[in-house]
Parts: sequence; C-alpha cells; structure tokens
Amino acid sequence: MSKTFLPLFLFSISLLSAVSAVARDEFQFCGFNSAKSNNNSNNNLTLSGVAEVENSGILRLTSDVHRLLGHAFYSVPIRFKNSTDGSLFSFSTTFAFAMVSEYAKLGGHGIAFTIANSSSIPDALSSQYLGLLNTKNMGNPSNHIFAVEFDTVQDFEFRDINDNHVGIDLNNLVSNKSVPASLNLKSGDTIQAWIDYDSARRVLDVWLAKNSTKPANPILSYAVDLSPILLNEMYVGFSASTCVLASSHYLFGWNFKMNGVAKSLDLSSLPSLPKPKKKNYAFLIAGPVSALVFLIAALAAAGYRIYKIKTTEVIEDWELVTGPHRFSYKELKQATRGFRDKELLGQGGFGKVYRGVLPGTKEEVAVKRVSHESKQGLREFLAEIESIGRLCHRNLVGMKGWCRRRKDLLLVYDYMPNGSLDKYLFNGDETMPLLPWPIRFRVIRSVAAALLYLHEEWESVVLHRDVKASNVLLDSELNGRLGDFGLSKLYEHGANPSTTRVVGTLGYMAPELTRTGKATTATDVFSFGALVLEVVCGRRPIELKAQPEEMVLVDFVWEKFAAGKWREAVDSRLAGEFNNGEVEVAFRVGLLCSHPEPAARPAMRDVVRFFGDEDPSGVPELPSPPLADGNF
Ligand SMILES: *[C@@H]1O[C@H](CO)[C@@H](O)[C@H](O)[C@H]1NC(C)=O
Ligand SMILES: *[C@@H]1O[C@H](CO)[C@@H](O)[C@H](O)[C@H]1NC(C)=O
Ligand SMILES: *[C@@H]1O[C@H](CO)[C@@H](O)[C@H](O)[C@H]1NC(C)=O
Ligand SMILES: *[C@@H]1O[C@H](CO)[C@@H](O)[C@H](O)[C@H]1NC(C)=O
Ligand SMILES: *[C@@H]1O[C@H](CO)[C@@H](O)[C@H](O)[C@H]1NC(C)=O
Ligand SMILES: *[C@@H]1O[C@H](CO)[C@@H](O)[C@H](O)[C@H]1NC(C)=O
Repeated sequence: MSKTFLPLFLFSISLLSAVSAVARDEFQFCGFNSAKSNNNSNNNLTLSGVAEVENSGILRLTSDVHRLLGHAFYSVPIRFKNSTDGSLFSFSTTFAFAMVSEYAKLGGHGIAFTIANSSSIPDALSSQYLGLLNTKNMGNPSNHIFAVEFDTVQDFEFRDINDNHVGIDLNNLVSNKSVPASLNLKSGDTIQAWIDYDSARRVLDVWLAKNSTKPANPILSYAVDLSPILLNEMYVGFSASTCVLASSHYLFGWNFKMNGVAKSLDLSSLPSLPKPKKKNYAFLIAGPVSALVFLIAALAAAGYRIYKIKTTEVIEDWELVTGPHRFSYKELKQATRGFRDKELLGQGGFGKVYRGVLPGTKEEVAVKRVSHESKQGLREFLAEIESIGRLCHRNLVGMKGWCRRRKDLLLVYDYMPNGSLDKYLFNGDETMPLLPWPIRFRVIRSVAAALLYLHEEWESVVLHRDVKASNVLLDSELNGRLGDFGLSKLYEHGANPSTTRVVGTLGYMAPELTRTGKATTATDVFSFGALVLEVVCGRRPIELKAQPEEMVLVDFVWEKFAAGKWREAVDSRLAGEFNNGEVEVAFRVGLLCSHPEPAARPAMRDVVRFFGDEDPSGVPELPSPPLADGNF
C-alpha cells in the first residue's frame, strides 16, 4: 500500500508545485475583470491608494484630482532569482495604458511599471514621487524599488529631461537613464509598452507603440545589473500619482512572464475608454438632419457661453489653455457660502481668505479674494499663475486654481486645518496650544526646504519676498507649509498703487532691500533668518513694547549668543524642553541669515545642509562682531 501511495503522493506534490510555479511565473490580464470578480481574499491584484477596477474591466490608478496616488500589484510575489545559485532570471512584460488629462497639454504626473519588495508602499508620496518613494528614502539601497516611469511632468528636482519621457529608476526618482518618449504619453490614446530584461546580457529594453505591433527598435536600451535591487521574491505592478496637474491613469491589459517572452496583447480585444470628445461620424452620416439640428444647438450654446463670459467672468485665450485650474465663480461662491464673514479665515496683505467646501468633491479649500485696481497688472500676473500653479512641493501650500471676476481674483488653495504659525508663537492667546520644540524645529526645516525648492529646484528662480510667520501654515500633521508664494508679483505689477513697490514686512526686510528695492534670493534668506529666530524665541522680530535693548530680536539674540547665554533667549514657554544641539544650530543659522551683508548670508542649499546634521560645529563661525553699528 505504502509502495503505491508514495509515488502518487510525490507526483501530486510536484504537480501542485508545478501549478503554483506556473501561476507565479506568468500571468495575463486581458482587461481586469478577473481581478475584480473575486473577493479580497482571492483577488489577484492588490490595490491601494485610489486604484480601482471599473465595471468595464479597466484598471484606473488615479482620477484627475489633485495629489492622488494609486498602486496595483499582482498579489502573489514573483520569484526573480534561482533558488539554487541565486542568479537573476530574465523577465518580460507588456501592458496597455492611457493617461487622460482634461486638457491635453497639461497632465500629471505619470505612471510607473514597478517591481517592489512588497505589494503596498505605505509611506510613498504622490506628485513627483510617483507613489514610489518619499523624501527620506530617495536613493536608499534598501528600497529595493525598480521602476520604468512614463512621466509627463518635468521635475527639476529630479533632473527630468522634459515633460514626456521614459526613465529607468533604481531606488531613486532621479532616473539612471531616460529618453524622450517617441509618442505623446498624455494624448489620452491607448499606448502599449513592452519591457524586457535579459539577465544573461544584462540589458533592459523598453518599446512603445500606439498599436499591437512591437517596433523593431526599443526606444530605450540600458545595460544594468538588476541583481542588487531585485530580491529573491518581488511584487510586480504599477504606481501612478497626480499633483496640481492631474491625469486619470488607466491600464487595459497586462501580460507578464519570467524567463520567456510575455504573451502579446491584442489591443482591439481590450476594454477601452469611451471617447466622448471624438466626432461621431456614424451619427453625421446616419442623420444629416439631426446633425444640422445638433450644429445649430451647438452654435447657440457657444453663443450663450460667450455672452455669459462677457457679462461675468473674464476669460482670455491663454486662460482657456490653462483651463484645469479655473473654477467658476458660482462654484466658489457656493463653496464659501457667498463669502460669508463666518467663513473668514484671515486677512492678509493681499486680501481676505475664506474657508470653503467645494460643492462637487466636498473638499475643503481656502479661497483668497484679491481685489485689484490695475487691469494691466492683473493681466500680467495672471499670465504667471500657470507657472505658479505648477509649483509643487510638500512644504508649499498647494494651489488648486483660480477664478477671475471683474476686479476680483480668487485663488484657491489647499485648506490648512491648523492655521498659521504666528498664532502659536506670539498671539498672546492662551487657548492656542504650545508648539513643542520638535515641531518648531520641523517647521523651520520645512520652510527651508520650500525656499530651497523655490530658489534652486524650480525651472526658474522664484522669490517669495514675504517669508514670515503668518505666511507659514500648519497642515493636519503640523508640518510647516509656506504659503503666498509668487503673490508678491501682484505688487510688482502695481496691483496696489497705494503701497510702495517694496514688498515685505518690517523686521523681515533685508537692509539692502529698503535701499535698492531689489529683491533677491539673499533678501528671502534674510527674512528666513528672522523667521528662525522668532520661532526659537517665540517673539516678533521687532517688539515695540519691549525694553529698548530687547526691541530688535536679532540684536538681542546676538548679544545673548556672544555672551554664551543663548539659552536665555529661547522661548521661556518651552520651559527648557528642547534639544540643545538643534537650538544652537537654529540660532547660528538664524544669525548668519540675518547678516547685514547679503554676500555673507548662506544660500538656502547650505541652510538645508546645516539643519541636516544637528551638529552645531557644521555651521560656519559667526563673524565677530558681525552686527555692529546698529545695522539693525
Ligand atoms: C485571477 O484569479 C482567478 C481566480 O482565482 C483566476 O481564475 C484567474 O486566472 C486569475 N488571473 C490572473 C491573471 O492571475
Ligand atoms: C466572498 O467572501 C465571502 C465571505 O468572506 C464568502 O462567503 C464567499 O464565498 C466569497 N466568495 C467568493 C467568490 O470567494
Ligand atoms: C537554477 O540553477 C541551477 C544551477 O545553476 C540550474 O541547474 C537550474 O536549471 C536553474 N533553474 C532555473 C529555473 O533556471
Ligand atoms: C523593503 O523596502 C523598504 C523600503 O521600501 C525597506 O525599508 C525594507 O527594508 C525592504 N525590505 C527588505 C526585506 O529588504
Ligand atoms: C543609478 O543612479 C544613482 C544616482 O542617481 C547611482 O548612485 C547608482 O549607482 C546608479 N545605479 C546604477 C546601476 O548605475
Ligand atoms: C503601428 O504603429 C506604427 C507607428 O507607431 C506604424 O509604423 C505601424 O505601421 C503600425 N502597425 C500597424 C499594424 O498598424
């Protein structure tokens, strides 16, 4: 009995493992309905973020909403290395995707074929991080993330070559190799991609086409040994994200195979997107009469629209191009309940800010209403909004869009539930919670990162010109976010003739700015220095009510610092609970940035570096005595 049983037993074991080996070695999705019809327990795709399989069988990773991310991984890990000798296998995959943005010229951010060490990436960020990595693990060899990105936004931070490229990412979003895409990735059309890795030749190839025919030549061929990145077992899938610019990212089919060529996809048999914008030729041929009716109706609608535009909102040609950010006045009026005083969040140099809830998405937003006197200045300013709208950094308050109505400009921002930093520091309001030192330090570092981005990591230098505590907002996790960037251009263009053209706030303005009126990155650095000191000391840069020797904060701090008594300058409400090293770095950086000579101030890149290592000796010695002769 046992003699006959044993071989049978062995046979069934080998059969079982053969079945599971096949399942892990190769799979095919012709549409994703097979992934949807099952329960979570036996789903063969693990979805996270906003990823979803639609009823049509289309896998949608994101929709065209700001700052989303979506992941879809094959639920079963794939063996990438030979268990006997640890050598890497070859793999091959092909998939059909589309990126649809409401306005074809602007899309964001992109989609990435991803091989990761887990089927979810919990701490990944959206936007330029493509849902793959975050600020802390960039380039980390322990990430074990391989991606082929199809990227439609040029991120200068990651040295992207253009806004339509294919790149190979190894544990990093700075691509190790990238090439311009051979076709328009964000056209909304279905695109097929093939990715093959030959582990013997150690070459990775990528092809792109708009049909099922694999072109003769890959658009990208990269010699790379992937064995340090790929572990024995890895998860394969896709990641996509959006930012201020947003696209819907779709997948229609996906085949994968280890040690062989992935089965080809037949685009015509895959689910496809409805194409509402395409002309319906069948309709035109079938019913010329109804077509005529349709045409008349369309003309009438267009005429009415032009009439409406003329009477209420002002739309210019270029505004239509940058359409996705335009809100209708009605929508914003409804969101803020008619700009009720009850919804007023604050009043700044540029106008009143209201809290609002967008009628469609129920998203909370802050709406800034800027009144404008000079038509010319407004036009120039609006021309720049498109570029400001593309600024995207985790430490900037995200701008969602705008609306223009007569003399009013309405700017829509992400809502920051915890309000502005100044309220916590020196409002004298006992009901505000005390900000403990670790949060203060994180806020300072966030603002430094935001300024570095504006000064050096964007396509052109953006000066903030009004860095101060009331322009630093705290998000739901009490991270610092710099607001009001780019707005000072309103002043520059003469928005408010009654004020001088020098933008800034007393105490934050560099001495040379009052002389020359010319803002530079060094004048921003000066304001940042004042901000750092006030966060550490918990008081304003200039306190008119204070004792004369304590009136100017930077002088006061300098004296305490020179006398080796800087602990006495720290906000007494912290009751001595702070990290000495961090406070000393903050004081040194604050004082260096407050130097009266612009050339002696550090650049934001240096500031970020000083904050990076909490060792005060990393910060250059302060010139002594630097701030003599009542420079302040
Ligand atoms: C998904 O799971 C179902 C049921 O387990 C199976 O029939 C189907 O072949 C799987 N599809 C893929 C692509 O693995
Ligand atoms: C789905 O899950 C429920 C309960 O978890 C179970 O009763 C049912 O049989 C499952 N259906 C399938 C198709 O696996
Ligand atoms: C794994 O490596 C061993 C020894 O080099 C080899 O005999 C075997 O065929 C390999 N297996 C696969 C699946 O390539
Ligand atoms: C998997 O990747 C994460 C980062 O994405 C890393 O922290 C972790 O150590 C990795 N796990 C392994 C087993 O290497
Ligand atoms: C990929 O680029 C990073 C720098 O961005 C570099 O450190 C790494 O060595 C590169 N990897 C390969 C395999 O070339
Ligand atoms: C597929 O598209 C390429 C261009 O992308 C074209 O050259 C080729 O003829 C097309 N093949 C078919 C079968 O339509």
